[in-house]
Parts: sequence; C-alpha cells; structure tokens
Amino acid sequence: MKHFLVAIDGPAGAGKSTVARRVADHLEITYVDTGAMYRSIAWKLLREKVNAADEAAVTQLAESMTFALDPAGICVDGTRLTDEIRTPQVTALASTVAKMAGVRRALVRKQQEIAERQSVVMDGRDIGTHVLPHADVKIFLTASIEERARRRYKELLDKGISADLESLKEDICRRDENDRTRQYAPLRQAEDAILIDTTNQSISEAVEVILQLCRNKLGGE
Ligand code: DC
Repeated sequence: MKHFLVAIDGPAGAGKSTVARRVADHLEITYVDTGAMYRSIAWKLLREKVNAADEAAVTQLAESMTFALDPAGICVDGTRLTDEIRTPQVTALASTVAKMAGVRRALVRKQQEIAERQSVVMDGRDIGTHVLPHADVKIFLTASIEERARRRYKELLDKGISADLESLKEDICRRDENDRTRQYAPLRQAEDAILIDTTNQSISEAVEVILQLCRNKLGGE
C-alpha cells in the first residue's frame, strides 16, 4: 500500500479512538492517539512536580519527551502508559497544557515526523487542519453532547465506577468549550473533512463508512 494518511478529529467522547483504532487495524497501519501525547505531558508534569504554570518549563519537557506507538498503545521515554493517563487529574491538566503554543508546536512536529515515516490513522483535534493538512482522508466525527455523556456514563458503569450523568455532561461541555475557544489550533472541522455524526449511528457503521472512503481513495489512484 502507498504511504497513506487518515486524519480523524472531533470533540471529546465522539468515539474517535475506538473508530480510529479499528480503521488502523483494518488497513494494517499505525494508530496514533495524539490525545495520549498531551495526556502524557500532564502525567509527567505531575510526576516530576513541574510547575504547570511555567510555560517555558512545560514546553521544554514536551520537547524532550520521546513517544513510541505500537498496537498496545503509547510508550513515553521508554515507559508504557495506560490507565495512569486517564485519571480525572491528568485529564484536566492535559486540557491546560494543550492550550500552550510551545507544547503544541513541539507535539505537532513529533506527530508530523511519525506520519512521515509510516502510514497512519491519527486522531485528535487539529489533525486535518494543522498536523496533516494533506491527509488522504479527513473525518470530523461528532455526536450530541447527550449521547457522548451517555456513552461515557455506560463505560464507567461497565468498569464498576459510579457516575453522575449530569456532571459528565457538564464536564464534556467544559472540555468542548476549552477545545473550541483556545487561541492555538482550536477544534474545528477542516473544509475538506467529511462529517460523520454518530448520535444515531453505531461505531461499526462509522468504521465501515471510513473504510469505504479509504478504499475509494486507494483504489482511485
Ligand atoms: O482526546 P483526549 O481526551 O485524549 O485529549 C486529551 C486533551 O488533549 C484534550 O484536552 C484535548 C487535547 N488535544 C488537543 O488539544 N489536540 C489534539 N490533537 C489531541 C488532544
């Protein structure tokens, strides 16, 4: 297969990572979860007790970190990170560091280097607009706030964690607002991205639509 790039953007909880991972598996190419990269910086800040308000120090940390991606997830500076980057504390701090221009510059460069070396399905907020503006297929995946909160609620209950639907909804609204209004690379649909709304569509259906777009693109060249 030729060098092939798929960009999937959208708000929190739209199902991006599940969809992106499945598309990558089908195409047998690397899945790059850029949210995990922002989360890893937050995790490292907490672990090394770096002052998160010191933008120069946070940027320096981001520049120095190395990321390796494989089907099992992300390795940061040689350490595999899984559940530790999904805690509420890391989630909140990741949203703060994602606003910093220096951090974004450092991560965008690393993401572009990964995509230069191999075919990828990359998901995030600014992939189609900034990181991979020439991606072969660009998707903007969304769902209503109610539906995204319901999915998160169910996910937590399935893990045996109690949750409150209303506060999950508020949390999603706050994250959407943060992502959409930040100064650098805010969340928005690229002009040439295809909108897929999963409010009334299953994840499998969304995967099928994206795979068909990929096949058309691969077959048509
Ligand atoms: O998708 P996620 O929840 O794992 O993302 C974690 C945070 O990083 C979230 O606040 C949005 C931000 N992010 C970003 O600004 N740009 C990206 N390409 C990916 C994530």
